[in-house]
Amino acid sequence: MKSYSTSEIEALKQADLKYYLHPTSSIVNLKAKGPKIITGGRGCTVTDIQGKDYIDATASLWYCSIGHGRSEIADVAHQQITSLESFHSFNEYSNVPAIKLAEKVSSLVPVKNARLFFTSGGSESNDTIFKLARLYWYCKGIDSKDIIITRNKTYSGVSCGALCSTRLPKFHEGFAPLLPGFEQIDTPHCYHCPWDKEYPGCGLECALALEEKIKALGAENVAAFIAEPIMGTGGVIIPPPGYYQKIRAICDSYDILFIADEVINAFGRTGLMFGIEHWEGVRPDFMTIAKAISSGYVQLGAVALSEDIFEVLKTQDKIMHGYTYSGAPLACAVGLKNLEIIERENLTANSEAMGKRLLRGFTDLDHELIGEIRGKGLMVGVELVKDRGTREKFETPLAPKVVDIAYEKGVITRPLINDVLQFSPPLTISESEIDEIVRVVHESINEAK
Ligand SMILES: Cc1ncc(COP(=O)(O)O)c(C=O)c1O
Repeated sequence: MKSYSTSEIEALKQADLKYYLHPTSSIVNLKAKGPKIITGGRGCTVTDIQGKDYIDATASLWYCSIGHGRSEIADVAHQQITSLESFHSFNEYSNVPAIKLAEKVSSLVPVKNARLFFTSGGSESNDTIFKLARLYWYCKGIDSKDIIITRNKTYSGVSCGALCSTRLPKFHEGFAPLLPGFEQIDTPHCYHCPWDKEYPGCGLECALALEEKIKALGAENVAAFIAEPIMGTGGVIIPPPGYYQKIRAICDSYDILFIADEVINAFGRTGLMFGIEHWEGVRPDFMTIAKAISSGYVQLGAVALSEDIFEVLKTQDKIMHGYTYSGAPLACAVGLKNLEIIERENLTANSEAMGKRLLRGFTDLDHELIGEIRGKGLMVGVELVKDRGTREKFETPLAPKVVDIAYEKGVITRPLINDVLQFSPPLTISESEIDEIVRVVHESINEAK
């Protein structure tokens, strides 16, 4: 790893402030504290430009499932670039890595005889699905069915289409007008139940809300319902047992397509291969995929669509939708090797075991400021509250302060909305690294309060 002199570091920081517009970053914080420049990564550790190590307790942005710095991936990328760096898949062209990756992902996803479309990330995948869902109904001769129903607190991405399904208000500020054709229902979260009910006596009112919404809009106007099986950016929210079975049944009875956005959940993150598998027997019509399909080594996303959808879409012959980098050989070759590693090293099982250890670690703290600890596998959220009994929140969220202190102590975590701390380390994480995360976060909460 290259080392940098003090003057080089200063010059880079100045250039960052002058030339680089960061994605979703505070310009005020950047000016006040300077950028945190990361220059290296190995396993669950990343290193900053000053040579200081951190445990990456978020797998970057939820995606680095196989851990950082795998030379096996570098070898595959090198081989692919030196044989065919890239060629498009428009106009009936194809390439071997794209074919093999489509076949591999199809064999894994719980989508009936899935066919794969490739993108460069989650927003493009959701845009693609919204278009294909509408095209499906259009091909069936029902062009009134164009509304997509999403849920409060959803994060679907930030491209113009995906942003309409994203329901975190700050992401909308200043970007009006959004596209028409998107509606929302509330999100199931028993800890703060929007319907003020208690599971299991509630009768799954959260799922019935979809039926009410469909009736209000008219089923003849609704194309699809989208949900992250386990919600990520909205605060790691896990719906109650039975929720998605009911959602699937409602979608079936009103002829609505069900989209599972597994951008964060897929490929072992939640302790099972896919998030939706925590609700037995539920098969989505579309699945949104990105992040862990390549562990972020190369930008890659995908859409899995069922055979039934494809059988209707094919009546269109040429679907006028494709990105320059759809099915790019380099990304697909890297994706294939990445999935091979996830399976070979049984990382889904490690996710389940280490996730349990992480949940237990936080639970054992029995901390007065921790309201709810929730998670499946290595997708964990810790919600901070001022008062555990009343669930009262701090006026100014504490999580950003905890994150800053933990960073100084060598652990990278992230604040989510509603004063939640995000924990989603690489699926390769060890017991001792899990214990260190808990220890540092405990100290950080105590110092932040
Ligand atoms: C559930 C979900 N969907 C879609 C996206 C958008 O993906 P991208 O940032 O790759 O466009 C994200 C990103 O975090 C996500 O978490």
